[in-house]
Amino acid sequence: MNFAASKGIVLAGGRNLRLHPITIAVSKQLLPIYDKPMVYYPLTTLMLGGVREILIISTPKDTPRLKELLGDGSQWGMALSYAVQDEPKGLAHAFVIGRDFVGGDPVTLILGDNVFFGSELALKTQQAIANNRGATVFTYPVKDPRGFGVLTHDADGRPVDIEEKPATPKSNLAVTGLYVYDNEVVRIAESLQPSTRGELEITDLNRVYLRRGMLDVVQFGRGMAWLDTGTPESLLEASQFVQTIEHRQGLKVACPEEVAWRMGWITDGELAALADSLQGRGYADYLHDLVANPDADGKNDAY
Ligand code: DAU
Repeated sequence: MNFAASKGIVLAGGRNLRLHPITIAVSKQLLPIYDKPMVYYPLTTLMLGGVREILIISTPKDTPRLKELLGDGSQWGMALSYAVQDEPKGLAHAFVIGRDFVGGDPVTLILGDNVFFGSELALKTQQAIANNRGATVFTYPVKDPRGFGVLTHDADGRPVDIEEKPATPKSNLAVTGLYVYDNEVVRIAESLQPSTRGELEITDLNRVYLRRGMLDVVQFGRGMAWLDTGTPESLLEASQFVQTIEHRQGLKVACPEEVAWRMGWITDGELAALADSLQGRGYADYLHDLVANPDADGKNDAY
């Protein structure tokens, strides 16, 4: 597939009060999900979508830590850059901060706490980026949608409304934290008024596209996992989920070195050199084994 030249943003700031005291000294997106930092999961989701040029936005305190972790991306054949969000002014604020980075290009946003897993992920993300007309959101059925943006659609599957955290949801379709946009998004974000809680709301932004008839919806089905990480319980469950899959398959979920290599962005030799540079045993051994046995995944793309 030819990848469209979408840039990417990982929004990895916020106060994350629901995880206090864990997140007093360290941001949520640096916490482990089983064997790797949380931010690896959304980052590799963008990579699987073919996005190689990514801006990471976080708090004044955590941006240097994320930079220390992820570097400039060249080790993975990518370009990573960084920007600070002084205050959590909302998800749509990412495009105000990222205006110069986005330039004249389309852009895909992912929230730094969103964990996706499943064989539909790479293809659906790549297709959404390649086919995007205005904005594309991804929905996922959840038992209790009250904590999310909730999408309703008509009998033909066309979106009718998105409501942010409705007390009485009209559907079970949560809008996930992965959003594909054309270049108009910067102007629309800049024209938004802060909501009553003082934030530039992503749902208000998506509603502008909806009103213009430029919002498309991709449904992730029940064969996919989209996991919560917002509470101690859900954080533990996400770790257990990843541990279960990795232990069963012997394959890692959301390993950026592996994804970069399978995407053809780094060579066998570069992957082996990355493995050598990692001091710890298990993770480095895994990378070495990939070079020796590249077909161990049976050509499955759900990294
Ligand atoms: O996860 C999907 C949901 O994400 C969507 O269904 C909702 O429509 C959307 O509003 C958002 O809801 P949340 O309640 O999860 O948003 P929250 O304010 O918790 O922010 C999500 C992440 O983004 C969180 O890790 C903190 C970070 N963040 C948040 C804000 C408001 C920032 O980095 N900067 C910000 O200004």
